[in-house]
Amino acid sequence: MGLSFFVMASWIGSMVGGSLFEQRIRTDRASLETLATRIAPLMAESDAQALHTQLLAAGGEMGGRVLLLDKNGKVQMDSYGEIQGERLEYPEIANILVKGQQVDYGVHELESGRELNTERLLFTRSASAAWVGYCTAGVVDASDIIGVLLLVSPVQEIMQNLYQLQDQMILIFAAIAVSALVCSWIFSRVITRPIAGLNRGIQRMSKGDFSSRVKIRGSGEMKQLARAFNSMSEKLETLDESRNQFVSNASHELKTPLATMKIMIESLIYQPDMDKNLRTEFMTDINNEIDRLSAVVSDLLTLVQMDSQNVKLSRENLSIAQLIKENAHRLQPIADQKKQKIALSLSDPCDIYADKSKLNQVIYNLMENAVKYTQNGGTIRVSLQRQGRDARFTVSDNGPGIPKENLPHIFDRFYRVDKARSREKGGTGLGLSIVHQLVLLHGGAISVESEEGKGATFIVELPLHQG
Ligand SMILES: Nc1ncnc2c1ncn2[C@@H]1O[C@H](COP(=O)(O)OP(=O)(O)OP(=O)(O)O)[C@@H](O)[C@H]1O
Ligand SMILES: [Mg+2]
Repeated sequence: MGLSFFVMASWIGSMVGGSLFEQRIRTDRASLETLATRIAPLMAESDAQALHTQLLAAGGEMGGRVLLLDKNGKVQMDSYGEIQGERLEYPEIANILVKGQQVDYGVHELESGRELNTERLLFTRSASAAWVGYCTAGVVDASDIIGVLLLVSPVQEIMQNLYQLQDQMILIFAAIAVSALVCSWIFSRVITRPIAGLNRGIQRMSKGDFSSRVKIRGSGEMKQLARAFNSMSEKLETLDESRNQFVSNASHELKTPLATMKIMIESLIYQPDMDKNLRTEFMTDINNEIDRLSAVVSDLLTLVQMDSQNVKLSRENLSIAQLIKENAHRLQPIADQKKQKIALSLSDPCDIYADKSKLNQVIYNLMENAVKYTQNGGTIRVSLQRQGRDARFTVSDNGPGIPKENLPHIFDRFYRVDKARSREKGGTGLGLSIVHQLVLLHGGAISVESEEGKGATFIVELPLHQG
């Protein structure tokens, strides 16, 4: 960037320098050419007196020193009368004598003779140097160059102006450079920094660190991006936690029946002469544990299947009321045992196009819970009605209910309110989370209302028409 500024500064310098000199060059050239034509006959005739008068007059007129050189570059006449007979070797003289140019102009440093190059003004600058302009014109007689007129004029004033301009330009470009630096610094703070932060966050996340969060900063869109990233990593973190929780719960759930069975089988192995009745009891227990295990495994399979997102519903036309009646029939023996009453209030058949076995599982799990957790002699009310485009199905009991603090977790996997009591009843805590998933799959919603000691009500709403 610095380089481009430098190039620009010297380009502008040379342009301005060139135009400043142009005016001077034009007038000098014109008067010198006129003088050359005027003295050509005098020189041809070698009229020294007349020549001298002309040169002196012209020198005064043009404000400089006028010299007349012969065709070998030797000074014939000097309006200052100082260097008669000397040979001068300025390129401007050679250009006339050797190259045959009519006129030429160049600016030189007086001391060293160094020529000024306006394109490299920055490098040729020196405080002490005195600059002079050399303007030359050929004296022509009968199309032969018989001499050269040289006008030496001071250009100090022009140079001074040029230097001043140069100083101003350097200042301006320095200011531009500084502001560009400041701009790029601001740019990097506003844009680059937040992006770098985000990048670090993503890298940390890709290494499995879901606790990574980025600072919300930068412009509006950057802030949005950072917020989106943070909420994504938050979700991933909870997902990761719940997955770990799930795996540890699942293994625990599988380990417990295995441990119980191991103890019982070891007793059977090491006590071959065990009482026959006790033996049968052990065998029955082992059988029950195996049932439990296979129930847990099949529940887990159902959940995993639903998690894989590509569950296929095999839909058919069915009546929800019909499904409820069938499940009530299935559960009646247990309810009878507990002297419970199952009251159905089905105001509409609620025909639906849905997956029969999955819907059956929803109804069965909810009704089974009600029967299972409600004390002997309780009542389970199941109602079904149409509500606009939805079917509303509720299972309500007058059992122990669910404490308020447990309600938000009731649909979580492996969540049980009273761990010991529920396990005793054969529960794994997967039933409601399966129900929840299945209802969502059908585009419906499930909620629960309960007060401790006053029973619980589960409400399922299912859209009757898809799409
Ligand atoms: N109707 C209800 N009344 C009181 N508590 C209930 C009721 N339904 C469910 N719960 C509580 O919610 C917990 C979770 O129920 P869920 O059906 O998910 O698991 P489970 O019945 O323990 O096991 P599973 O259904 O997998 O055999 C139960 O352990 C129980 O504590
Ligand atoms: Mg259950």
